[in-house]
Amino acid sequence: MKVIAISDVHTPQYLWMLKKKLETLDNDVDLIIGAGDLIYKGASLAINSLTSTIVHKFNKFVPFFTCFGNEEYFNTEPKLKKLKYPIYLDTDFIKLGNPEWTFFFTRGILAQPTAWQKKHMKDAEGIYERKLGEIRSIIESLKKQTNRIVYVSHYAPTYRTLEGENEESLELLGSDKVEKIILEFNIPLAIHGHSHHSIKPIVNIGKSTIINAAIMVNKIIPVIILEDGVKIEHIR
Ligand SMILES: [Fe+2]
Repeated sequence: MKVIAISDVHTPQYLWMLKKKLETLDNDVDLIIGAGDLIYKGASLAINSLTSTIVHKFNKFVPFFTCFGNEEYFNTEPKLKKLKYPIYLDTDFIKLGNPEWTFFFTRGILAQPTAWQKKHMKDAEGIYERKLGEIRSIIESLKKQTNRIVYVSHYAPTYRTLEGENEESLELLGSDKVEKIILEFNIPLAIHGHSHHSIKPIVNIGKSTIINAAIMVNKIIPVIILEDGVKIEHIR
């Protein structure tokens, strides 16, 4: 299964960049994984320009699943969940391909809530703590069924792909508590977004590959071959 990963297009902001990077890809893509922030500031209608760009490139509706990002505001979730393309999944998974892979989608967690979240979310720390537990128990139960799991979140599940970001903002971009889960269960592949300044967007930790799919950090859109294992076709 040939998979591409994109995020942080912030349509319309970086749609030009997506278009340019899509040009270099072949058409034989089986699956598109979104890692959130496909739109900007909760303007959900913009998703139509993104999907028409993608359909125009591949000349068909390549299966396209995504998690929410912080730019997909909470109040846009009901609307976005109704879309048939892309399909937004939140703390949910889907099984695809032959051999079959299980893709788990979540907005993810932050080690430290942002100032906005502290102000507007009651008990933001507690929410992230419970979310972490929820992620862990879902991964644990999926792991009993298969080793072929892909973890997809908007927020970074490690700090290793955040090299190049301001040291002080790491806890506002992701959480390395998720890295522990990925390593504990030997998750072969994790895909995230949210970090726009990463200089090392693809890393290997233990048996896991972690990819920052933000459109501006990869010279070429990451192409991932999922068979019995994970192979990255293009690296920066
Ligand atoms: Fe983001």
